[in-house]
Amino acid sequence: MNGTRSDEAWWKNAVVYQIYPRSFADANGDGVGDIPGMLAHLDHVRDLGADTVWVSPIFRSPMADAGYDISDHCDVDPLFGTLDDAQRLIDEAHARGLRVLLDFVPNHTSDRHPWFLDARSSRASPRRDWYIWRDEPNDWRAALGAGSAWTWDEQTGQYYLHFFLPQQPDLNWRNPEVVEAMHGVLRFWLDRGVDGFRIDVAHCIGKDPTFSDHPRCLAGEPLVDFNDQPYSHEVLRGIRRLVDSYPGQRVLVGEVNIRSTASIVQYYGAGDELHMSFNFPPLDAPWDPVVFRTCIREVDALLRPADAWPTWVLSNHDNVRHRTRYDGSLRRARAAAILLLSLRGTPFLFQGEELGLEDARIDPRRQVDPGGRDGCRAPLPWKEAPPHGWTGATPWLPFPPDPARQAAERQWADQGSILHLYRQALALRRASPALRLGDWEELESPPEVLAFRRRRSDDVRLVCVNFAAQPRRFAPPGNWRIALCSDGQAPGTAFGGELAGDHAVMLEPGD
Ligand code: GLC
Repeated sequence: MNGTRSDEAWWKNAVVYQIYPRSFADANGDGVGDIPGMLAHLDHVRDLGADTVWVSPIFRSPMADAGYDISDHCDVDPLFGTLDDAQRLIDEAHARGLRVLLDFVPNHTSDRHPWFLDARSSRASPRRDWYIWRDEPNDWRAALGAGSAWTWDEQTGQYYLHFFLPQQPDLNWRNPEVVEAMHGVLRFWLDRGVDGFRIDVAHCIGKDPTFSDHPRCLAGEPLVDFNDQPYSHEVLRGIRRLVDSYPGQRVLVGEVNIRSTASIVQYYGAGDELHMSFNFPPLDAPWDPVVFRTCIREVDALLRPADAWPTWVLSNHDNVRHRTRYDGSLRRARAAAILLLSLRGTPFLFQGEELGLEDARIDPRRQVDPGGRDGCRAPLPWKEAPPHGWTGATPWLPFPPDPARQAAERQWADQGSILHLYRQALALRRASPALRLGDWEELESPPEVLAFRRRRSDDVRLVCVNFAAQPRRFAPPGNWRIALCSDGQAPGTAFGGELAGDHAVMLEPGD
């Protein structure tokens, strides 16, 4: 299954599909998604044409942060199933040719994790130093609206550090016992056959050892947005050595949640840290040619010389879905699918974007997430008829708008749906070395049109995206025919240079 030459690395050829367990599919009727639900719908992912799933946390958790607060890394939360279910998921995915990445959350545990319960039991606890304690807080601010990053522990009379909620105390990775314990977690899952990990807030692991105040925190920004310490790199190198010691190519994808492409390059190290890092500027980007052009040029200019393989993400479980960001426009979501799946780098799809889902509108009384991220976490509508494949209890969040029309069942039956557009784009990508691995070169085009060439040996594709709402003309030199377009023209017809508004075409050489 695994290639050997570095340009054949499976993860460079991969298309990753993010499963958010609570909202993907519910098999036991309690209104929350679970692993048996994932098993029942793995064929959807395979038929779509993605080849890797990244599963957000399924581990034991009090769910203060929807599973990103882990109380046992080596067991599955009963909400989602059992350890046997997790093994079945790994095995059944593999049987379908899908690889599996799990979420690894190194920065913090739950405050109910036995390690933290032990650490906070007394200053003399052998695990006291597994977390970060101070007599006086500094001005560091936590994310998720949690205010100060320090919480007072009454019993032992010190503050502990948490970059997120007080229920998520930060681990002290400078303690070798923590390193060993967390390496044990990685081994536990690697031994069960996972193909790698998505590393949660990888840039947060190392802390400023001087604990200096920071003006950006004083100005109200959480430290998570810019923490960038050398020690994180040392930790990542240790994790990389560990995964490299396993057979096959196990992969590390880091969430480096700094909105700076220049900074994320560092997290690839000298090929000895992350295999891939997320690069989030496109995740915030509006439907705007200047913003996209800048993001894409930056990636090419900064990552390619460093031999750092890019990733592309338009939506995930922490941010407003891109269709919603593009004013709810399905035309734009369709054009964006062609753009996303023809860039140089590994694309990450967030469950439901292939259905063109928008964020759900959440009544404040049904709000669950303290960070206000419920909208993008709404359940996936599988069936056209209510309750859309979610039998039993009311789902934990309301459905996104128009669930009957957006339902997977209905879109599989409609060749013109956005689901089939994704499927076709993925099939073309799989068949074309240029689209998967080729060079990226921008073409001179009108300002509202982004046009680029992908080339690998004699395999060539052109992609033109018109960000304007009105038609634009752009006829690239040479003879081109349409391989896929976001709306309208049939594949196989000659491309005459007409681009409808909010429209994208993928072109292949004509006769
Ligand atoms: C990451 C996750 C997010 C979580 C946070 C704390 O940013 O994507 O969902 O709240 O880390 O673990």
